[in-house]
Amino acid sequence: MTTATLIILDHAVALLSIIAWFAAGVTMSLRRARPALALLAVALLVTLTRAVSVTVLAGRGWWLVQEKVLLGLPMLALAALAATVIAGPRLLAQARDAGRRENLDVAGVVALLTAAYAALAGFVLTFLIGYPLTLGTALITIALVFAGALLTVRVLATPNANTVEEADTDPDRPEVSRRRFLGVAGGVVVVGAVGTGAGLSALPTAAVTDGGGPGPASRATVSVTDLRGAGTPAPGGVRREHVLVARKATVRLESGRDIDAWTFDGTVPGPPITATQGDLIEVTLANHDLDDGVTLHWHGYDVPCAQDGAAGVTQDVVAPGGEFVYRFRADQVGTYWYHTHHASHIGVRRGLYGALVVKPREEHNTGQLDLTLPVHTFDGTATIAGGAEHIAPAGTAVRLRLINTDSEPHWYALAGTSFRVAAVDGRDLEQPGEISRNGLRLPAAGRYDLVFVMPSTSVALVLDDHAATVWLRPEAGAPDGELSTQDTTGWPELDLLTYGTPAPVALRADAADRHFTLVLDRGVAMVDGSPAYAQTVNGRGHPSIPDQLVAEGDIVRFTVVNRSLETHPWHLHGHPVLVLSRDGKPSSGSPLWVDTFDVRPGEVWEVAFRASNPGIWMNHCHNLPHAHQGMMLQLRYDGVTTPFGGMHTVGSSHNH
Ligand code: C2O
Ligand code: CU
Repeated sequence: MTTATLIILDHAVALLSIIAWFAAGVTMSLRRARPALALLAVALLVTLTRAVSVTVLAGRGWWLVQEKVLLGLPMLALAALAATVIAGPRLLAQARDAGRRENLDVAGVVALLTAAYAALAGFVLTFLIGYPLTLGTALITIALVFAGALLTVRVLATPNANTVEEADTDPDRPEVSRRRFLGVAGGVVVVGAVGTGAGLSALPTAAVTDGGGPGPASRATVSVTDLRGAGTPAPGGVRREHVLVARKATVRLESGRDIDAWTFDGTVPGPPITATQGDLIEVTLANHDLDDGVTLHWHGYDVPCAQDGAAGVTQDVVAPGGEFVYRFRADQVGTYWYHTHHASHIGVRRGLYGALVVKPREEHNTGQLDLTLPVHTFDGTATIAGGAEHIAPAGTAVRLRLINTDSEPHWYALAGTSFRVAAVDGRDLEQPGEISRNGLRLPAAGRYDLVFVMPSTSVALVLDDHAATVWLRPEAGAPDGELSTQDTTGWPELDLLTYGTPAPVALRADAADRHFTLVLDRGVAMVDGSPAYAQTVNGRGHPSIPDQLVAEGDIVRFTVVNRSLETHPWHLHGHPVLVLSRDGKPSSGSPLWVDTFDVRPGEVWEVAFRASNPGIWMNHCHNLPHAHQGMMLQLRYDGVTTPFGGMHTVGSSHNH
């Protein structure tokens, strides 16, 4: 069973336990002893099941169950035991004298309802707080359950309520009590939510976490603005100058539809930036009329920090009328992309992105078809830019550069040929094997380079089960064959962790100098100064998540855990990371260096990298709305400072 399924099951059992305990309490208050007894038995059974589901989940990782094991479950077990001991014998006695209406048995009902409150508190704790559980949160939760119990005693034991009920033979009368119980329960939920939220925001925030390495050393500092690389091309390289004007424009999509977009140079995607290894890329960004401001971030390209485009951290946002010049040497070959890094959850969605492709110096382009195919979703429709049909005579070496510029993963199938995945996130794989009839899942912001030799029949690149198709034909008018109707949905997903051939890497990941754990979830947290139901890292939202401190040369390890039921494409700026394992299973294929990796619900990833690019780097979920909702932090080299305020700006929160 997958961990995600276990998480859902455990939620379901938790919910059932709440319902069962409430039902037992309410039924007893209605003097229905026999059904109440049966419900008590059910509640006990569900509670036992809960113990099992939490135990199994604990086997998948402590981060997934900490608050359940330390608080939720013990609290529920204790309350359930008390309820059984108190209410059980009374219900048995009442069941024996069936027929005679008794006075309300306050102690029994309170005991049962308190078990319900405990079950509810554990459930709410998981959803609002999650990992890590703090002492303050634990105390607040326990206090709330007690408060609920006391409140219930008060409501049930008021003489008024009892005399009214005794004197009254109207069968509708108990309805009042039931309503009252539900009112109390509702009140407890609200108080609980507010209380935990308030408790949480009052927690002190550590500014940095050192991952087990040395803390900040007081020594000479360097500003991010001074972290620039070479200002000239490598010998034999050239200077590639571009001016990108950010402006609003009406853009015609390949589908023929017109959209109001935010663009670079009036086109979506923006102009492709291409270079040969060793060239100097120099891009002048000018903002014409984007009121929110704009920057350029070179996704996956390990530029010097001053060129990284993180608004508020490595530069000020470029306001209308403003300009910024980016300059970096094209040292890495491969497929990358650029996008705004200010209010990117709006800007990228509306069109502020483009492709960045760097080719090796010695490449011979004769007889090759090299296509860059960014996918982007406009108004719910996924579109592949770059043309829906291409001619490639049989025998042509074809390279398809797939780029996912969306916030959700996309599915691809390459039908009509076998192929290799030559590169992932711009980095070549080691001896990737030939595959066919495999589905490819491309994480948000990720890139795959697919290569194959063109056969004498048509080839179709199928996106998201025929949402869009790119055709490659050996000659104009070559027929589709069966490809346009082929069902590719059943093709097994290629697992990159077992693809290709292992090879030695120059990184001693087992000798890490620092180790950071990032537990991803949803919860109540402060985001930009106000409480929100945020996307959290270790229970906090941006900018309250402590910076990760590293020193140049450190080997750094990340454990990334997804407790939530959403996928989080994790992305660190400035460094590729080597995938070590997923869910405890070591990566056994080609060394896999990526800049974005999809952490799916319940998954635990281990990755490592060398801190070899000094700066202050954003480290975030590349589901951009998630980043905006708090799932973003900074990795900071010791001694590096920023004059730009240091808080990555997320722009206006309103949607345009
Ligand atoms: Cu694609 Cu923080 O970026
Ligand atoms: Cu996310």
